[in-house]
Amino acid sequence: MEGFKIRLLLTVSIFLSIVNADRTVFINPYDRWQVFEGWGTSLCWWANIVGGFPDVRDKAADLVFDVNKGLGLNVIRYNIGGGDNPRHHHMRIGGDVPGFLPCRTCPYNWTSDANQRWILFAAKERGADIFEAFSNSPPYWMTNSGCSAGGQKYSDNLNSYYYDAYADYLTEVVKWYKEQGLTFRTLEPFNEPTDRFWKYFGSQEGCSYNCSAMNIIIKKVGEYLNEKGLSNKTSISAFDENKIDEEVHSERCIDNDAKSYISQYSTHTYGGTQRVQLFNSSKQDNKRLWMSEVGFHSSQSMSASINLSEAILNDMRNLKPVAWTYWQVIEHAPNGNDGNDWGLIGADFRNSTTSLDNTRLSFYGFAQYTKFIRPGYQIISSNDNDTLAALDANSKTLVLVCTNKDYISNVWDINVSMFNINISSSTAFRTSNNNETLKSLPNIWNITGGILTYRSPAQSITTWVFSLV
Ligand SMILES: *[C@@H]1O[C@H](CO)[C@@H](O)[C@H](O)[C@H]1NC(C)=O
Ligand SMILES: *[C@@H]1O[C@H](CO)[C@@H](O)[C@H](O)[C@H]1NC(C)=O
Ligand SMILES: *[C@@H]1O[C@H](CO)[C@@H](O)[C@H](O)[C@H]1NC(C)=O
Ligand SMILES: *[C@@H]1O[C@H](CO)[C@@H](O)[C@H](O)[C@H]1NC(C)=O
Ligand SMILES: *[C@@H]1O[C@H](CO)[C@@H](O)[C@H](O)[C@H]1NC(C)=O
Ligand SMILES: *[C@@H]1O[C@H](CO)[C@@H](O)[C@H](O)[C@H]1NC(C)=O
Ligand SMILES: *[C@@H]1O[C@H](CO)[C@@H](O)[C@H](O)[C@H]1NC(C)=O
Ligand SMILES: *[C@@H]1O[C@H](CO)[C@@H](O)[C@H](O)[C@H]1NC(C)=O
Ligand SMILES: *[C@@H]1O[C@H](CO)[C@@H](O)[C@H](O)[C@H]1NC(C)=O
Ligand SMILES: *[C@@H]1O[C@H](CO)[C@@H](O)[C@H](O)[C@H]1NC(C)=O
Ligand SMILES: *[C@@H]1O[C@H](CO)[C@@H](O)[C@H](O)[C@H]1NC(C)=O
Repeated sequence: MEGFKIRLLLTVSIFLSIVNADRTVFINPYDRWQVFEGWGTSLCWWANIVGGFPDVRDKAADLVFDVNKGLGLNVIRYNIGGGDNPRHHHMRIGGDVPGFLPCRTCPYNWTSDANQRWILFAAKERGADIFEAFSNSPPYWMTNSGCSAGGQKYSDNLNSYYYDAYADYLTEVVKWYKEQGLTFRTLEPFNEPTDRFWKYFGSQEGCSYNCSAMNIIIKKVGEYLNEKGLSNKTSISAFDENKIDEEVHSERCIDNDAKSYISQYSTHTYGGTQRVQLFNSSKQDNKRLWMSEVGFHSSQSMSASINLSEAILNDMRNLKPVAWTYWQVIEHAPNGNDGNDWGLIGADFRNSTTSLDNTRLSFYGFAQYTKFIRPGYQIISSNDNDTLAALDANSKTLVLVCTNKDYISNVWDINVSMFNINISSSTAFRTSNNNETLKSLPNIWNITGGILTYRSPAQSITTWVFSLV
């Protein structure tokens, strides 16, 4: 009798020490955050190259835009090229995005930019449904420096004589695409306008603007959209600043008339901390908010994937954008996985039959989100910084994405007692250093008394797709 009691106590205490959680998380369906409209990518350099590779471009489009065969990205940021002086040769591979208006008196050349356009329409065929057109630089002949990479000594580069010409150019491109059956919901005249990145003879198109120039250009672009009968479907997004705090600043420096043409604020999150401020000011100004660009070093290690996931978590939980858009999903990686590029897929941009087999772990890390938290899902509260929770519009599916960034495994107790979960029709997937790429996890988790208990391996990302009754 005594012996039995002792054994029982031992068993209980061993059991408790096993389930003693490193993390306890509560998922709250009544605290609802942003209704999400999708995950995205910019086209630009990679599309300008890969769209010209007939042997591999269908596979590339499947991997990026098809939700069954790949990431299922539905938010597209198409780059309206400026076009550099044809005598200049200083752009990175893919960076010489062609413009449509080669000189002041030339006619528009609509056969230009065929490669990026191929990817744009391939995205649409595979389900992409939200399109933005953005400009990195006006055509070189509208600039002060005569170069679409930027001004001398990083100076502002659009010649004020060409403000109207620039607004006319951007809206003509939007109008032409509309006639081809593709409507851009937003038109963004700037990219990282105040960070002082863009210099003469740099390796990519770019253009700096001061606030008063932006204020004038926004109004002109808005007026041209009106005049051309485009403004019912297309409005302006701004400012695509490099850093969150710059975005906060630029929003404050334009007047209400300019603001009235803007439907969306878009920020990049390469730096800055004012996520909550930006969320608040967007709400105050009644603008849609996007995280429109960021990128991370890739390598065939889980570290890149964890970094991407932590960035998604920080943005989605604190900035609360309705779209989250990666920069270049495919990059030129001639040396394999040296970590010098930001591609989720590495390829050789000099080889038109390049293999697309170099899918990095960050591709799968991103997929842990993009394949499961789909457009129309609403992000809901989870009281843990490494967890993102979302419900579909009909409350039939609960998705949880949990990231263990630690270098040791840990046990999570996730309180899902507020949901009526049908375990037998729920699934789970994991990406980790252990050769796991979206690996299906049938039998290594349980829900007891409303608590999902799970031992999460070191440096791993796990997604649950719970079917709700
Ligand atoms: C129009 O662009 C195409 C593709 O870049 C080019 O081959 C063609 O020469 C251009 N046409 C004119 C008139 O510049
Ligand atoms: C802003 O930029 C425009 C165009 O480059 C220039 O004409 C103007 O003087 C600048 N304004 C300020 C306040 O710097
Ligand atoms: C835009 O919408 C307004 C109001 O709904 C309508 O009167 C106008 O005809 C529309 N314009 C175009 C070009 O569709
Ligand atoms: C954002 O808005 C909330 C709610 O109005 C407020 O409590 C909070 O202090 C604001 N935060 C910042 C940083 O503006
Ligand atoms: C991930 O971020 C950490 C911390 O900033 C950094 O040390 C590491 O190099 C990053 N990993 C990659 C692959 O860039
Ligand atoms: C181009 O890529 C293909 C597929 O990976 C490979 O077989 C071929 O050797 C590559 N060609 C060159 C010149 O690198
Ligand atoms: C979670 O994130 C919030 C907001 O960034 C921060 O204030 C808090 O300290 C974080 N909690 C932990 C445990 O890191
Ligand atoms: C789970 O959450 C519910 C609802 O808040 C709460 O009543 C319950 O005590 C929690 N369970 C545990 C084990 O903390
Ligand atoms: C739970 O899922 C199983 C498997 O898909 C299904 O047969 C069953 O009807 C579901 N139960 C409820 C209550 O929906
Ligand atoms: C991953 O798979 C490769 C190829 O099958 C193998 O060589 C390697 O040892 C595996 N690594 C781990 C950590 O299992
Ligand atoms: C989950 O529960 C089932 C059925 O009770 C049990 O067979 C299985 O061992 C449990 N798995 C874990 C990881 O606890």
